[in-house]
This record gives sequence, structure tokens and C-alpha cells, in this order.
Amino acid sequence: MTKLRTMFLLLVLTALQLSAQGDDTTFGVFRQKEYYFSNSFKLNWFKAVEYCRSRGMFLLSVRNAEEREAIIEYLDSTGYTKTHKSLMAWMSANDLGEEGEFHWASTGERVNYQNWSETEPNDYKIDDCTGEDCAILEYWSEGGANYNYTFNDRSCAREYLFIFGFISTQKDINTFGIFREKSYYFGNTFKLNWFKAVEYCRSRGMFLVSINNDEQLNGVIEHIEKSGYTKTHDVLHMWTS
Ligand SMILES: *[C@@H]1O[C@H](CO)[C@@H](O)[C@H](O)[C@H]1NC(C)=O
Ligand SMILES: *[C@@H]1O[C@H](CO)[C@@H](O)[C@H](O)[C@H]1NC(C)=O
Repeated sequence: MTKLRTMFLLLVLTALQLSAQGDDTTFGVFRQKEYYFSNSFKLNWFKAVEYCRSRGMFLLSVRNAEEREAIIEYLDSTGYTKTHKSLMAWMSANDLGEEGEFHWASTGERVNYQNWSETEPNDYKIDDCTGEDCAILEYWSEGGANYNYTFNDRSCAREYLFIFGFISTQKDINTFGIFREKSYYFGNTFKLNWFKAVEYCRSRGMFLVSINNDEQLNGVIEHIEKSGYTKTHDVLHMWTS
């Protein structure tokens, strides 16, 4: 059933971010490792992703020891753990695209730096059909080394605090370098499920296409028609973001 649903999709279209003011800002503060922490409200994982993107930022990724130290330092500076016994906040890691294969949604990269809490990730089944596919960063003041800003998979539908910021990768510099050209890429020979399509695009410093006005729609149509795809196919189904 799940398999059927995830294989339904057809084509991937990637596009550079079209015209978000927020992305110019992203670029400007790129090296400062600024973080933001929603310390007063909670969202489910999907809404947290949207919240961050709508501000030109990305849900947290902790890809190595330095990034872990940086986020700990930031969270300490907020004072949150002085007044709370625990902290649980969404990061961008998830295995929605393929069970057991965790990737950072914000960068498309596989989760290679494994800093899971003991016995995690366990895809704990809350009921017969819901597992845990999205990851939080967790800290418990009485948990010792095992809950010391470590990772834990949780149900994506649950609401947690979340942490977000800008992304510092070479790829993003490239993205911004050609930011205004409105280049599109069309995955016209292979299909992915939506989550994997998002990762595919992000791992190339790009984004699944957004179509928010006629101009954007026309740009996409023009690109598709140039590719000749609709001359040889009767139907075109492709993912948008
Ligand atoms: C998490 O990473 C830190 C620093 O690299 C390490 O000291 C710690 O043992 C790791 N914890 C787990 C549970 O992997
Ligand atoms: C938690 O991690 C921080 C940063 O890596 C480290 O300084 C501290 O000793 C760790 N605490 C425990 C209880 O392992």
C-alpha cells in the first residue's frame, strides 16, 4: 500500500529558487551560523519545514561534530535548558523517502554523522500504521551522555519546537551565483517519490519547483515544451514542492 502510494509519482522538475527576497538575505549572513529557535511554539515536522522556508531558512541539520557543538553553544546561549529539564526540537533529518535511510531534507545529504540516542532510531509504532520518520534533537538534563543533544526519530505529525538557520555549503553559493537566471532542470527519464525528489534537488543546491503565479507557470511550460517531452508523451505528471 505504502509502496503503491510512493511510486505514484512521475517526474521531477528542479528549479532554482525563483524570486525570494529571503534568499538574498540568506546569502548575506551565510558564514555567521545564525540559528533561530521556536522556543515558544510547536509545529509538526512538515509545517516546521514550511515555516523555515517561508523565511528563507532551513530546518536544522547537524552533519558533523562541529555543527553539533555550534548548535549546543547556541542553545546554551538561549538559556532554555536553565529553565526546562528537557529540550526536544525538530531537525531536518527524516526517512520518509525510504524507511531506514535517513537524509537531511534541508541539504539532501544522507545522515552520515550518527549521533542517535541509545536504541534510536527505532521507528516506534504508535499504532499499526504510524511509525517514526522524522528526527528531533533531544537533551535531558538528567539523561547523561545518552540524551546529550542526540537524535531520536519521532512521528512527523507530532508537534515539537524546532530550530532553523541558514545553510553553509559550497552548493548554495553556486545557487545564489546563478540565482536570477531561472534555470530549470527536468527529471524526464526517472521517477522518484516526493520526499526523495526533494532530497535529490536539495543535494544539488536546488529546489523542487514552486508555481506561485502565471509567470512561474509560463516559465515551467516553456521549459517543458523545449524539452520535447509532450511531443512524445500524452500525459505529464510531475512533482511540485
Ligand atoms: C555524540 O557526539 C559526541 C561528539 O562527537 C560524542 O562525544 C558522543 O559520544 C556522541 N553520542 C552518541 C550517543 O553517539
Ligand atoms: C554533552 O556534550 C557536551 C558537548 O559535546 C560535552 O561538553 C559534555 O561533557 C557532554 N555531557 C555529558 C554528560 O556527556
